[in-house]
Amino acid sequence: MSLINGRYKKVGRIGEGSYGDVYKCIDYLPDQPPRTLPSETCKLVKDVQYGLISTDTDDFEENFQNQFKENDKYLKEEVKIDSVEEGKESYVAIKKSKWRRMDYLKHSFNFSTFKEISFLQELEHPNIVKIRDIFFKDISIYVVLEYMVGDLHQLVHKDKAALSPSHVKYIMKEILTGLQFMHDKNIMHRDLKPGNLLISDKGEIRYADFGIARYYEREILQDKETDSAQLTRNVCTRYYKPPEILYGANEYDFSVDIWGVGCIMAEITLGRHLFQGENELDQLNKIFSTLGNAVEDNWPGVSELPNYIEYDCEIQEDLDTLFSSQTEDFIDLIKNMIILDPSKRFTVKEALEHKYFTSEPPACLPSELPLPVPLTEAIDDFTDSD
Ligand SMILES: Nc1ncnc2c1ncn2[C@@H]1O[C@H](COP(=O)(O)OP(=O)(O)OP(=O)(O)O)[C@@H](O)[C@H]1O
Ligand SMILES: [Mg+2]
Repeated sequence: MSLINGRYKKVGRIGEGSYGDVYKCIDYLPDQPPRTLPSETCKLVKDVQYGLISTDTDDFEENFQNQFKENDKYLKEEVKIDSVEEGKESYVAIKKSKWRRMDYLKHSFNFSTFKEISFLQELEHPNIVKIRDIFFKDISIYVVLEYMVGDLHQLVHKDKAALSPSHVKYIMKEILTGLQFMHDKNIMHRDLKPGNLLISDKGEIRYADFGIARYYEREILQDKETDSAQLTRNVCTRYYKPPEILYGANEYDFSVDIWGVGCIMAEITLGRHLFQGENELDQLNKIFSTLGNAVEDNWPGVSELPNYIEYDCEIQEDLDTLFSSQTEDFIDLIKNMIILDPSKRFTVKEALEHKYFTSEPPACLPSELPLPVPLTEAIDDFTDSD
C-alpha cells in the first residue's frame, strides 16, 4: 500500500483552491501527537504582519532561512507504521500547497501557507477547523485538517438545499460566534464566503482558509509609520467584497468581515448570491442597485477613496423588498451588516446580541441541518508536478 509520509492514504480530491488542492485521506496513526510549526516561526509571521519586521531585510532572510532548515529536517521525518490496524484509521483532509520551485530554491517560505498554519494553531475553537498535523514532502507543504463532509457553498448551490429560517439562524449564530473569537484576537479573516465555511458530519460549522487572514491592531500599525500600515486591497472574493475595498481603500478594519457575513446570510436565505457582479465595477453597480449610491451624505469621506467614481444607479430592489417574507428582526440584522459606510456596520458583538437570535423561530439543532453530499474525485498519487 502506498502511504504518504508513512501514514496517510489518499482517497480522492475534495477541493481545489487558488493556493492548493485538498484531498480526502485515511490517517492510519490518528493517535500520533500533531507536528506543529515552532512558536518562533509563528511569532515571526505575526511580527511581519504588525510591521515590526520587514521582509526585505537581510536579517529576516537569515532568520527565516535558519528556521526553514530546522523545520525542513523535522517535518520531513516519516512516522512509519508497521502494519495497518483495522478500525484504528480515521479520515482527514490534506491541503497540499502549491509551492513554486523558485521559492524553494531561494529558500524563502510560501508565506501564505505558513500564515495559515500559524493562525490555525492559534485558533482553537469549535467554529474553526482543527489542524491535525503538518509535513513537508519534496517541494510541497501539507496541512492535515480534520475531515469535514463539505462546505456551505456546496450545500446551497450544488445540493440546492432549502434552508428554513431555523437553519439560517443556526448557521448565522455559528458564523458570528467563530468570527467573534477571531476578532477578539485581533484577526480579520478577509475571505468570508460559503466555500470557506465547512460542515462536519454532525452539522457543525467551522471556518477554513486563513490564507489571507491577518492580525490587525490599529494602534500598533499607526505607531509604526511604515508601509505596513497600508493594508492590501487584494482581499475577499468579488461577490463578498465590501464597497470600501472595491473603491480601493487601503485602510479598513474588522467591518470587512461583517459585510461578508451579511452577504452570506442573504445567500443562504435566497439560494443565490446577493451581489453577483461581472467585474469589480459591476460589483459596485449591483450593490448600489440595492442600497443606493454611495455619496458624502450617507458615507462621509467616500469621495476621497483612491478609486472613487460617482455612480448613478436606480434602486431596483431594496433589502426590505428582497426579504419581505422574512421577520422584522431578520431584516433589521441584515440591514445593519450590509451598510455602505463601514463605520456604521454592526460589530460582531452587536450582531450576536441582536434580538433576531432570541426571537421566534429558534435556531435548529446541529443534527437538524441538512448535510452536503460529499464530493470525492478519484485521482492518482500525490505528485509534485510544479
Ligand atoms: N478540512 C476539510 N474537510 C473537507 N473539505 C475541505 C476541508 N478543507 C477544505 N476543504 C474543501 O476544499 C476547498 C478549498 O479549501 P480552502 O478554501 O482551504 O483552499 P484555498 O486554496 O484557500 O481555496 P480558495 O482560494 O478557493 O478559497 C474548500 O472550499 C472545501 O470545499
Ligand atoms: Mg477557500
